[in-house]
Amino acid sequence: QPPNLQMEESGSLGRVNCRAKGAAPGFKVAILGAAGGIGQPLALLMKMNPLVSVLHLYDVVNTPGVTSDISHMDTGAVVRGFLGQAQLEDALIGMDLVIIPAGVPRKPGMTRDDLFKINAGIVKTLCEGIAKSCPNAIVNLISNPVNSTVPIAAEVFKKAGTFDPKRLFGVTMLDVVRANTFVAEVLGLDPRDIDVPVVGGHAGVTILPLLSQVKPPCSFTAQEIDYLTDRIQNGGTEVVEAKAGSGSATLSMAYAAVKFADACLRGLRGDSGIVQCAFVASQVTELPFFASKVRLGRTGAEEIYPLGPLNEYERVGLEKAKKELAASIEKGVSFIRK
Ligand code: NAD
Ligand code: LMR
Repeated sequence: QPPNLQMEESGSLGRVNCRAKGAAPGFKVAILGAAGGIGQPLALLMKMNPLVSVLHLYDVVNTPGVTSDISHMDTGAVVRGFLGQAQLEDALIGMDLVIIPAGVPRKPGMTRDDLFKINAGIVKTLCEGIAKSCPNAIVNLISNPVNSTVPIAAEVFKKAGTFDPKRLFGVTMLDVVRANTFVAEVLGLDPRDIDVPVVGGHAGVTILPLLSQVKPPCSFTAQEIDYLTDRIQNGGTEVVEAKAGSGSATLSMAYAAVKFADACLRGLRGDSGIVQCAFVASQVTELPFFASKVRLGRTGAEEIYPLGPLNEYERVGLEKAKKELAASIEKGVSFIRK
């Protein structure tokens, strides 16, 4: 018999139980969509994270295989698999952090908004499960279109009476990861030494890199600014086209998701000075949601930073971003309120 949740819970395999008892103190994390292109490498990386003591892998397909595979890694986290809607509640009970990469990805020629029809319903169902089984968990939402799925999640939680704006995050970390990489290439520096704030949202012109605020301070020619802005805004499409019909970014996304999840867990642990960009409920602009720098702490998003001084190029970009974002947010809200 392969090791699985049932055996571990029923205690029919002493050795598995010993591992569960001996689990290091840490956080309980669930991945919803764990058998997918992002889900699998994300599960691998979270199993390697020393802050994680329990890792729940949920999907509507293939979780027994992925769980068996990942569970052989000799790292601290205890891994359990959950398959199908009937096991969603068990997957979620007691979780501190829920990461959601469930849903369909783009093919060439599609926008992220073209995914709304399918992914809106998936996110709704999963968030209803969260509201019921782990209403206090931090939620990292990856499923596209993030600019609409985060408002959907917020409406589901409001309906259930569990909405805490400090605990809901749209994951825009991949935009920052890309921006750091592309800026480092232009400057001839190590990307690990670069920090580019990327604000707004997660689709096309709503992705707004603030190149005037790059750390360490540096300057770019007008041509470099055009090139970098375009490449950062279209990084997702670059991967979708290169994959030619087999999906969108999965490996760099898993890396970015773990970078953000790790920041959330370090915040929960009480570490100070944890700041990352994310798409959150916000008063930074007139829009109800906006991506900007957020300080992560024990209660989630403890502080949301203002945008800081923008140059004329960025002010024009901000107006374009807000126009598209407003429509995407409204689309998500009315999907639940309709
Ligand atoms: P994928 O098709 O490889 O995997 C998606 C997984 O979700 C599959 O295993 C599928 O079975 C599962 N799933 C479908 N319905 C589900 C449900 N109701 N409950 C649980 N699981 C369900 O896709 P992928 O490449 O992993 O991408 C997933 C999503 O992430 C897409 O919407 C994609 O656009 C998005 N994405 C977002 C970012 C970002 O920066 N936020 C980056 C890359 C991809
Ligand atoms: C990305 O930025 O890579 C993701 O949002 C996936 C996509 O569809 O581009």
